[in-house]
Amino acid sequence: MVKICGIGAGYVGGPTMAVIALKCPSIEVAVVDISHSRISAWNSNKLPIYEPGLEQVVNQCRGKNLLFSTNVEKHVHEADIIFVSVNTPTKIRGLGAGKAADLTYWESAARMIADVSRCNKVVVEKSTVPVRTAEAIEKILCHNTNSKGIKYQILSNPEFLSEGTAIQDLLNPDRVLIGGNQCPEGLEAIQKLKAIYAHWVPEDRIITTNLWSAELSKLADNAFLAQRISSINAMSALCEATGAEVSQVSHALSKNTKIGPKFLNASVGFGGSCFQKDILNLVYICESNGLTEVANYWKQVIKVNDYQKSRFVKRVVTSMFNTVSGKKIAILGFAFKKDTSDTRKTPAIDVCKGLLGDNACLTIYDPCVTEEQIQKDLSMDGVEWDQQPMSSTMVKQVSVVGDAYEATKEAHGICILTEWDEFKNIDYQRVYDNMHKPAFVFDGRNILNVDKLREIGFIVYSIGRPLEQWLKNMPQQA
Ligand code: NAD
Ligand code: UDX
Repeated sequence: MVKICGIGAGYVGGPTMAVIALKCPSIEVAVVDISHSRISAWNSNKLPIYEPGLEQVVNQCRGKNLLFSTNVEKHVHEADIIFVSVNTPTKIRGLGAGKAADLTYWESAARMIADVSRCNKVVVEKSTVPVRTAEAIEKILCHNTNSKGIKYQILSNPEFLSEGTAIQDLLNPDRVLIGGNQCPEGLEAIQKLKAIYAHWVPEDRIITTNLWSAELSKLADNAFLAQRISSINAMSALCEATGAEVSQVSHALSKNTKIGPKFLNASVGFGGSCFQKDILNLVYICESNGLTEVANYWKQVIKVNDYQKSRFVKRVVTSMFNTVSGKKIAILGFAFKKDTSDTRKTPAIDVCKGLLGDNACLTIYDPCVTEEQIQKDLSMDGVEWDQQPMSSTMVKQVSVVGDAYEATKEAHGICILTEWDEFKNIDYQRVYDNMHKPAFVFDGRNILNVDKLREIGFIVYSIGRPLEQWLKNMPQQA
């Protein structure tokens, strides 16, 4: 029986290994992590991450061919193939701080693999890493091995799942990318990994490349996706200034088969643990290779994203008569997108901090994010994934509540920051009746029916909608 060990039981490692276990009943899959709390959650009825469909997959396999453990060394020692899905955050200090990927977790995983391995292993990079990381990993493995004659083959097999749709993405991927050394042993390792995916992925969707192309493709993939969002967000600012409407522009663009329909939704800005981190990493690699112009091109994607978030805050404050001081603002949605409880780099953090900076009182509701998480996010300076809260001065103006009606009660304004479906179905007449007047809605996700809201009496700002329309409403309502 082939044995697989997945190091890192996070958003990628957990679901990815669970789906491999589901689709390959003949393979024993052990998922290991240094975090005891994460592993005990994986072994409980309340999984550590919220992902539609994940619970069913885990329940089907856990205790059969899928196990979660903190005994990292044992399971690495026993495995034939080791997937490494540890976190690779942006470095916060030292050379490349603020841009380069921090490979500390990866390096420590590699040193541990070298330490406990007693036979040949295939080591798979699942984490997103800088191009040519495999070279460094190979050096660490070969120079630290405890048993003579052990051979490691390193493969790059980046993960393309999106949070909120991870299980569907894993069950039905548009492609699986495997990069490896182009020597006979490398090609053999590629075939070994390909055989695992072939249990459920059609062969023509499994792409094989050299190592560096696979590593770089992942960074390129995220950079291209984020670039589309920044492009449409840049257009949204122009729409507001000119009377064009961004949803009509994106619809027109989407019909161009050369452009296609996806990732054209204007928003308050993109979030998530990947886009910003991976573009910064790309920028750093470009700069390290003397490619200043290329680095500057990608930097602009992040600058436009920051601009979009601060533009939104400015719009809220200026609309509400240039001050939100002491005003209650309801924040609907805190997760970086719907169907996840993940708040890493969510635009809600920057928007809330911006409003708190103007002394607003925030009442936050998100169907999936806990109060503890929100308080933690708003009290950190936002640079380190596992940082402890630094101060609690700002968060006193924040309360977290259990539903949208409570959040909006006696509020002066509402900001929609995540596109949760339930926000489309709220009784906005009831909400309006319980708010201070004039009652404002700022739709950062363009999910609401603006005309209906205006009929009720709200003053509505929606990303990329002509500003004249909004201004025209204001004197009538104020
Ligand atoms: P995560 O923080 O949720 O999970 C990483 C896990 O690795 C943590 O639980 C941590 O405790 C564990 N870990 C760290 N060092 C370890 C070690 N030496 N031994 C054992 N466990 C260790 O991160 P994530 O979101 O799953 O992302 C993991 C990687 O996948 C990153 O490189 C990320 O860029 C990439 N990625 C993420 C996504 C996504 O949607 N989150 C998608 C594609 C790729
Ligand atoms: C992303 C990539 O899509 C995925 O391929 C990669 O493996 C990990 O990073 P993820 O961050 O989970 O996935 O979610 P995604 O759906 O890409 O959304 C990222 C952010 O962009 C969210 O904040 C989302 O709300 C925003 N977004 C997305 C927009 O603002 N507009 C869009 O049209 C699409």
